[in-house]
Amino acid sequence: MAKQRTSRAQFSSKFGLIAAAAGSAIGLGNIWKFPYITGVYGGAAFLFVYLGFILAIGLPVMLSELIIGRKSRRNAFGAFKKLAPGTPWKYIGSFGVAAAFLILSFYGVVAGWSIKYIFFSLDKTFHSLSPQDISGSFASFIQDPLQPLLFQIIFMLLTGAIVIIGVQKGIERYSKILMPILLVIIIVLDIRAITLPGAGEGLKFLFHPDFSRLSFEGVLSALGHAFFSLSLGMGTLITYGSYVKKDTNLVSTAIQVTAADTLVAILAGIAIFPAVFAFNIQPDKGVGLIFETLPNVFQQMPGGMVFSILFFILLTIAALTSAISILEVVVAYFAEELKMKRNVATVLATALITLLGIICSLSMGIFSDVILFKRNVFDLLDHISANILLPIGGMFIALFIGWKFGKKKVVQEIAEGGSLKGGILNVFMILVKVVAPIAIFIVFLQGLKILDLFTAS
Ligand code: PHE
Repeated sequence: MAKQRTSRAQFSSKFGLIAAAAGSAIGLGNIWKFPYITGVYGGAAFLFVYLGFILAIGLPVMLSELIIGRKSRRNAFGAFKKLAPGTPWKYIGSFGVAAAFLILSFYGVVAGWSIKYIFFSLDKTFHSLSPQDISGSFASFIQDPLQPLLFQIIFMLLTGAIVIIGVQKGIERYSKILMPILLVIIIVLDIRAITLPGAGEGLKFLFHPDFSRLSFEGVLSALGHAFFSLSLGMGTLITYGSYVKKDTNLVSTAIQVTAADTLVAILAGIAIFPAVFAFNIQPDKGVGLIFETLPNVFQQMPGGMVFSILFFILLTIAALTSAISILEVVVAYFAEELKMKRNVATVLATALITLLGIICSLSMGIFSDVILFKRNVFDLLDHISANILLPIGGMFIALFIGWKFGKKKVVQEIAEGGSLKGGILNVFMILVKVVAPIAIFIVFLQGLKILDLFTAS
């Protein structure tokens, strides 16, 4: 055991850690979900609430996860077993591993669509389709029994391949390469979008506060999305935290990762809305915005084909660096708790998650009449993980740090590579002890309402 601990993987540098953690945070959540929900829930008004939650809840929970990970040097489940032996706290970790399993299965499906759209973008005829035909080709693609599986499997193989190489040579190295590419692509897309004639409307839509459109539901969605977007609540950052060197400053790491995630979400909004508005296309919802609405925008835009290719490469990269972090949660658990070799753990985890993903994908097509709790498998997994498992996980992680781990150990762990002084430390403790758990509990209730499991429609 002792031997295993000394040979445990580590991120080699602060930049490597930031690239990996920001890579996890920046994903499909930033590029399609954030711009869409920001628009729906009142633009800048929603944005301010979201930023408030990111600061008051996201940031402290992220720091909590990093502390738990680095202190224990264990996977999400083992971390609680080690820090609170013989107590039920370890079940928070099981929730996390289960959430990772479910999230990656449907995440891999959407990421597969993204790869397919790189190919669509390369095809000249795709750029001359009518809006109906674009929607039609999206619908027939996702309902096809084979095509989406092919791309999902390609994506999952890429994810597994990076994870199997290891934490430093795989996850860290590829994040260090891919994240700067992502940043360059999104900036290029932003420049294209804001230089379009009529772009101002889109920017107004995104940044002009209209508090009358901000509903209670919008406030709750802002909190839920803060969790999903920062990869919190299922032990991703416990797992990554367990690979962080003792002298790394956890406070500045959490701040930088949070800032990067928020920045990219805003940059994605700037890339999408000015273009959507410049061409007089109504912002649609969710998945449709990216796969049905945007191709119309690219069609009308000078240089649209190139920007379309770039956009879907961006989306694929963002999804990939998130997917590796989700897979790592499961792999670290299999390797450490079930004592599997890392290679075996990776192959097994990738295979099982891909299988569940296949069912998810088929639930759009040939299995679409399999309805559980009024949803197809894809929607059900999305809702259970994002609206139930992540909020519960986040709430207990905050409670764990606030009430069980305690201020003294927090100070000790943080002090290894920096410090959190007087007033700010107390604010942090209040946030994790009281504010975050209560706020998350409210979101959780909301999640149940959205899920609508028990009431007939
Ligand atoms: N944060 C990722 C995104 O925005 C998704 C994710 C959720 C990754 C939970 C890891 C854990 O797409």
